[in-house]
Amino acid sequence: MDDAKPRYYIRFSLAQRYLHWALAGTFLGLAFTGLQLRFSSAAWIQSIARAVGGFGAILFFHKFCAILLTVTFLIHVADLVWRIGFKREWSLLWGPNSMVPRWKDILDFFGNLKWFFRLGPQPRFDRFAYWDKLDYWGVFWGMAIIGLSGYAMWFGSFFARLIPGSWLNIALLIHGEEAILATGWIFIVHFFNTHLRPENFPMDLTIFTGRLSEEELKRMHPEEYERLAASGGLQAIAAENNRTPS
Ligand code: HEM
Repeated sequence: MDDAKPRYYIRFSLAQRYLHWALAGTFLGLAFTGLQLRFSSAAWIQSIARAVGGFGAILFFHKFCAILLTVTFLIHVADLVWRIGFKREWSLLWGPNSMVPRWKDILDFFGNLKWFFRLGPQPRFDRFAYWDKLDYWGVFWGMAIIGLSGYAMWFGSFFARLIPGSWLNIALLIHGEEAILATGWIFIVHFFNTHLRPENFPMDLTIFTGRLSEEELKRMHPEEYERLAASGGLQAIAAENNRTPS
């Protein structure tokens, strides 16, 4: 192999990249349509609504995206159940390849804060940093809060048989406030952590190409690199033909 050429390693499978596209697309669709419903009294939003066929049409697209997001989420959960329950991939539940938080994540969080103030070295991250896990669990939290409240409102007459009808008003309140929190999180925290950090600016393409270079793996995930190098596991994630991401 030509040593002058950069080596690339696989970080995300094709299926994971498709799911991320589906998650991002449906979330943006929901945020775009939902915030128009939330601020429907603003004159400029009413002009948009008139142009696209009224708020009924916006709500229709909101519900359409909600179904697609729910399917995306369920595919991910089914994959987890399959891999953990049937294929016994326990590494998904604990260890460096798991999204389950570890003590190291808490230490890394405080270590990173110290590093921000130049009071210590930057923590050495493994496959997933604590901010990756926060983003990941945020989707579960969001699906529980936004999803449940959304479906409760959508199928109000059914849910009103199970819960007091006044709770549907609370569901609307929670749905709207959580939507602002979720949209703010994605546009501020998620975008900053994944794309706008000086190391990644202007964009980290790994979630789209699935690969990262050896230099990026060493720099951003040094513990993972060293662990795989020591165990001979690097070859297993080497990108085919060592191609540059297309
Ligand atoms: C499974 C997911 C979701 C479902 C089933 C759902 C369903 C709904 C429904 C039925 C409404 C209309 C409520 C009414 O009768 O006025 C609504 C409103 C809204 N949705 Fe969603 N939604 C979902 C996800 C989201 C997401 C991810 C966001 C934003 C990030 C969002 C933002 C909003 C907002 C801001 C409103 C307007 C709330 C208000 O008027 O105060 N929704 N949603």
